[in-house]
Amino acid sequence: MKTYKIAVIPGDGIGGEVMTEGIKVLDCYASLKGNIKFAYETFPWGCEYYLKTGKMMDDDGLEKLKKFDAILLGAVGFPNVPDHISLHGLLINIRQSFNQYINLRPVKLLPGAPCPLKGKGPQDIDFVVVRENVEGEYSGVGGIRFPDKPEEIALQTSVFTRKNTEKVMEYAFQLAEERNGKRKLTNVTKSNALNYSMVFWDKIFNETALKHQDIQTETIHVDAITMYFIQKPEAYDVLVASNLFGDIITDLGAALQGGLGFAASGNLNPEGEYPSMFEPVHGSAPVLAGKGVANPIAMVWTVKMMLDFLLKVEADEIITAVTQLLQEGESLTPDLGGTATTQEVGDAICGKLAKLI
Ligand code: NAI
Ligand code: MG
Repeated sequence: MKTYKIAVIPGDGIGGEVMTEGIKVLDCYASLKGNIKFAYETFPWGCEYYLKTGKMMDDDGLEKLKKFDAILLGAVGFPNVPDHISLHGLLINIRQSFNQYINLRPVKLLPGAPCPLKGKGPQDIDFVVVRENVEGEYSGVGGIRFPDKPEEIALQTSVFTRKNTEKVMEYAFQLAEERNGKRKLTNVTKSNALNYSMVFWDKIFNETALKHQDIQTETIHVDAITMYFIQKPEAYDVLVASNLFGDIITDLGAALQGGLGFAASGNLNPEGEYPSMFEPVHGSAPVLAGKGVANPIAMVWTVKMMLDFLLKVEADEIITAVTQLLQEGESLTPDLGGTATTQEVGDAICGKLAKLI
């Protein structure tokens, strides 16, 4: 029996509500499989913690997190704390300090999930975005000069290193090789306007492509990608994008797969030097918080990604269970037209799993 140590950061708003269901499904999966166990330690970090202590996480928070096999995060952010403080103080700090240089975001439309595109179905929407996750536009390099003066200047510098960019490209090509897909990698760029950073990005992409000649490649500007996601999502298999571009196009991806209630992500340190962190793409949704109506499917899918990463197996039973739920149309939250609570959806997924495992 192997026990995995999981650090749990429920965070703010609906983060904690969906986390409860994610852990429920994880425990349910483990007890049905019989050969694995999860030991949790919960950390109360987030905006509420910030309002009490002036810090999003403890000073030695990273030291505390280091000893875990993985980190599960709900969501952080609340209206009374500026978003750049909550994001940089916790999420971006963990991503960068633990060198989680890959942000993996699957975009897959499950049968029964609502798709906003006319004439497109599950066979058309099944791709993965590999987003660079520790530098690029979100490296946090910059400054403000002459604040509040007429000559005020804001600088925000993108950082792209050869070492990291090569690793991201290599990861994306390998994923295109391993995935049972179209064996195609799309490079998301903007090298017409960003004449240093994105020209460099494209160069590393092309260099890496030489080592993976079995993979079909294409390079498309990010603005065009947003158009093609709508017009021909079936054209994509694996995409590689910088931090900012990946962030933006994956929200569009989330919409294609039925909304933020479905979008999951993993912040990976593939070498395992540090724990990887898994989180739904959605935020703390203050408008839904405390009502018990948040859709926990994104969190459940996130847990499935963590299982895939830790156990090196595809925990596909979880996706099958969610698909069955969608197809039956009962036990769905209001964002999917149902009347079920967050907790009822978690219970229903466990009920399905018990029949599948
Ligand atoms: P959001 O993702 O929290 O919510 C946007 C809308 O999407 C909600 O009003 C709701 O209608 C819907 N939604 C999101 N998750 C849902 C779920 N599980 N079930 C059903 N409906 C769902 O984004 P918003 O409102 O822009 O941001 C709220 C706060 O969350 C902000 O403070 C923001 O900074 C933070 N945030 C945190 C993220 C993170 O922790 N990774 C990611 C995105 C936003
Ligand atoms: Mg985002």
